[in-house]
Amino acid sequence: MLTPTELKQYREAGYLLIEDGLGPREVDCLRRAAAALYAQDSPDRTLEKDGRTVRAVHGCHRRDPVCRDLVRHPRLLGPAMQILSGDVYVHQFKINAKAPMTGDVWPWHQDYIFWAREDGMDRPHVVNVAVLLDEATHLNGPLLFVPGTHELGLIDVERRAPAGDGDAQWLPQLSADLDYAIDADLLARLTAGRGIESATGPAGSILLFDSRIVHGSGTNMSPHPRGVVLVTYNRTDNALPAQAAPRPEFLAARDATPLVPLPAGFALAQPV
Ligand code: SIN
Ligand code: MN
Repeated sequence: MLTPTELKQYREAGYLLIEDGLGPREVDCLRRAAAALYAQDSPDRTLEKDGRTVRAVHGCHRRDPVCRDLVRHPRLLGPAMQILSGDVYVHQFKINAKAPMTGDVWPWHQDYIFWAREDGMDRPHVVNVAVLLDEATHLNGPLLFVPGTHELGLIDVERRAPAGDGDAQWLPQLSADLDYAIDADLLARLTAGRGIESATGPAGSILLFDSRIVHGSGTNMSPHPRGVVLVTYNRTDNALPAQAAPRPEFLAARDATPLVPLPAGFALAQPV
């Protein structure tokens, strides 16, 4: 659980980095799981523009035992339930690889606009809990935040790709040419008096952020990866409505069964 001071920091800034997160053995376990997932050709795996480098894999908690345990890890699920004051389920799970030298940008955006506009999510009773797979430094494209922007609610930004029929309309929502990206004029207004902060910290750090905070990340200029696992927890009473053409389950889960935390003191271990 978060301390009252941590909770206050989270509520004020819209994000919180806890450096003392998962231990080195747990990080090792997650890194191995990520490497195996990157190697599997799957519809939920996306590549960078070079067509070769893995950008992200989604929905891994549904097929990988380490990721399945991670979403019920008390260090992640505890704070998510505390912040949202209720039962939660996983709306979205992804691992962003940000490979050495080829890992591309995540343009400035709010997450909640995707979930409200694309998935029909009613309220922002949803939180991201991320685990840094590698040390995040100013060289490898750490997550960047405009503190306090979660208090602005949903910022109306036009969808970049034309909506309509066709397969994989959601693909630009996973690429460096992101839908609903915030442009420079708007960013200038948003950052005035707020600035930009970077979430740098050691591998294993846990990073919580509000679904409305404006965030993004730059390219990875270093020779090392900058992997991040992102678990998005949604409150069960905010589960998605039925839709005519829903996004795939790995982007917008429809199974809203409440998650039960694993026991306090649980640690991820290599599957036998
Ligand atoms: C990143 O991995 O740097 C961006 C993740 C996100 O936008 O949720
Ligand atoms: Mn995001």
